[in-house]
Amino acid sequence: MPLVPLQRILGKARSDGYAVGYFEAWDACSLEAVLTAAEEEAAPVVLGFGAMMVDGTWLDGGGIEVLGAIGRSYAEKSAVDVALLFNEAHSLEQARHGIDAGFNAVMIDTHSWQTDDAIVAVKELCRVAHQSGVAVEGELGSPAEATASGVDHSHASLTDPDEAARFVERTAVDCLAVSVGNVHIMMDREASIDMERLRSIHQRVDVPLVIHGGTSFPPAAVVQAIALGVAKFNVGTVLKHAFWDGLESSVRSVGTNPEVHQLLGSHKESDVMGVAQQRMTTKVRSLIRQYGGSGRHVVAAELSAR
Ligand code: 13P
Repeated sequence: MPLVPLQRILGKARSDGYAVGYFEAWDACSLEAVLTAAEEEAAPVVLGFGAMMVDGTWLDGGGIEVLGAIGRSYAEKSAVDVALLFNEAHSLEQARHGIDAGFNAVMIDTHSWQTDDAIVAVKELCRVAHQSGVAVEGELGSPAEATASGVDHSHASLTDPDEAARFVERTAVDCLAVSVGNVHIMMDREASIDMERLRSIHQRVDVPLVIHGGTSFPPAAVVQAIALGVAKFNVGTVLKHAFWDGLESSVRSVGTNPEVHQLLGSHKESDVMGVAQQRMTTKVRSLIRQYGGSGRHVVAAELSAR
């Protein structure tokens, strides 16, 4: 199925009162796990890859093109509505490469930039991207980040609602990631969400809102967040843990003298990646249900008529 514009996927989620997940993958195996989950739930989904944890030299040396090619080939065989996001590019240049590589949505990680610098770069990205029918996600504010020793608030800043309105108006982004107490990469507890701030942003900003740090977003707050304009949750860390746990248990169960051709790359039941993928698929399915996305797939033609 051809890629569906992110704006349409998010617009329908907003109008019908649910959210979609961007379940961050890192290779073909993990992307397949996400797509399987979305197809099993008959749910629209944002597929894609993020740059934040990936070596910049690898990305710049052809990695973005490889990721784009993997993403497009899975999207084309998808049975559900899919957008393909290149998330948190390190620079404007990388986001532009993402467009050339076939992603239909791009984002620059500007969380540590001065707002005015971010506006200049993101506005330029929107100009280029919109000419090719590609969506741009902006970001204003910086979520705190979990580290081995606790939550690091030193670079965190909450999104100011008036600044958010100015940012959206100046850049023309299609959706906006906000910082309202959400925390990145946190596994051991739930974040505490400032719903009043989210409400104020929603009152001033028209475009769909995005929450990064989906791993620690409190399930009990999902419905209210959706009512306050959130149309996409970005999830990463918990999915890598699910995959890792599955991989570890299947590798542990292999005895001495491993049958490497059966264990690696066979795509048979014996493939060690199978259990890892299954664990990730199960987690993605439960999050899709939590966001109210199950059964929301509609044929692309119907979607474009909306
Ligand atoms: P988590 O890893 O905290 O789920 O956040 C992922 C994310 O925000 C990717 O953009």
